[in-house]
Amino acid sequence: MEHNGLKNKVALITGAGEGIGFAIAQLLTQHGAKVALNDVDPAKCQAAVERLGQTGGTSVLSLPGDASDLKVITAMVHSTASHFGTLDFLVPNAGITLFGDFLTFAPEDFDKVIALNLKGAFFLIQQATKLWEKQGKGGKVVLMSSQVGIRAYKNLAAYGMTKAALRMLAKQLAYELAQYRVTINAIAPGATLTERTKEEEPDYEGTWSALNPNGRVGTPLDMAKTCLFLLSEDARHINGQTLIVDGGWDTAGKYPEDLS
Ligand SMILES: NC(=O)c1ccc[n+]([C@@H]2O[C@H](COP(=O)([O-])OP(=O)(O)OC[C@H]3O[C@@H](n4cnc5c(N)ncnc54)[C@H](O)[C@@H]3O)[C@@H](O)[C@H]2O)c1
Repeated sequence: MEHNGLKNKVALITGAGEGIGFAIAQLLTQHGAKVALNDVDPAKCQAAVERLGQTGGTSVLSLPGDASDLKVITAMVHSTASHFGTLDFLVPNAGITLFGDFLTFAPEDFDKVIALNLKGAFFLIQQATKLWEKQGKGGKVVLMSSQVGIRAYKNLAAYGMTKAALRMLAKQLAYELAQYRVTINAIAPGATLTERTKEEEPDYEGTWSALNPNGRVGTPLDMAKTCLFLLSEDARHINGQTLIVDGGWDTAGKYPEDLS
């Protein structure tokens, strides 16, 4: 599917060495956009940039670093703008999923989840908006929330809390940043087959496909296609919303007949 307004646009995507972020970077480059690609793992970051080179992406900048670190965040926005001359799209995709029983969940783990999922996204948008204010031509943000920000899931209280907060951040900033011509939306992926989820659960696809009406697991490409739509001119009047991409999983919980 072709979208309007992506060619030659400049996007900064965090946590894009693999998984959903990489798929977004790949699809954007295939649509003629330029991409600054961040990952905390420098080797993964470099490998991803090389993979993009092999699939037709020529305008790709590698920005290794921790997307929860405020110095890295500021540097990433400046480096992207000075390398490409501008910044149009921001995808604060990096997120950490730490499982743990509520009663024993460690404060250090809580801090890690908040630092990346919330603080990282919040201050990255702040830095980009400062630039957009100067540029005067606005920008678009797509946040990565989660199905777990809508439905509870065992041992994910801290993570779920951050993903619910990102949905509110989209609403709040759609309202506050309109003065800078910034639009901001979020995607809430359901279970998505990535390198990480496959490693966490070898039969991830088999287990999770059965849980939604579509009968299939989400793919990074499903999320990337949604992200490109939200970044495109086709979605110009959509602002402050969260698009749930979960094969219909959130439409209903289990019913008595599902238990037999
Ligand atoms: N995969 C799913 O099923 C799923 C479902 C719902 C929401 N999400 C959300 O979508 C986003 C991407 O998910 P994913 O499964 O593709 O991610 P992932 O866990 O596979 O991580 C992608 C990349 O992020 C990098 N990363 C980790 N910490 C980082 C940091 N501090 N700074 C920069 N990079 C960092 C990793 O090295 C990795 O290469 C996350 O925010 C996640 O919470 C994923």
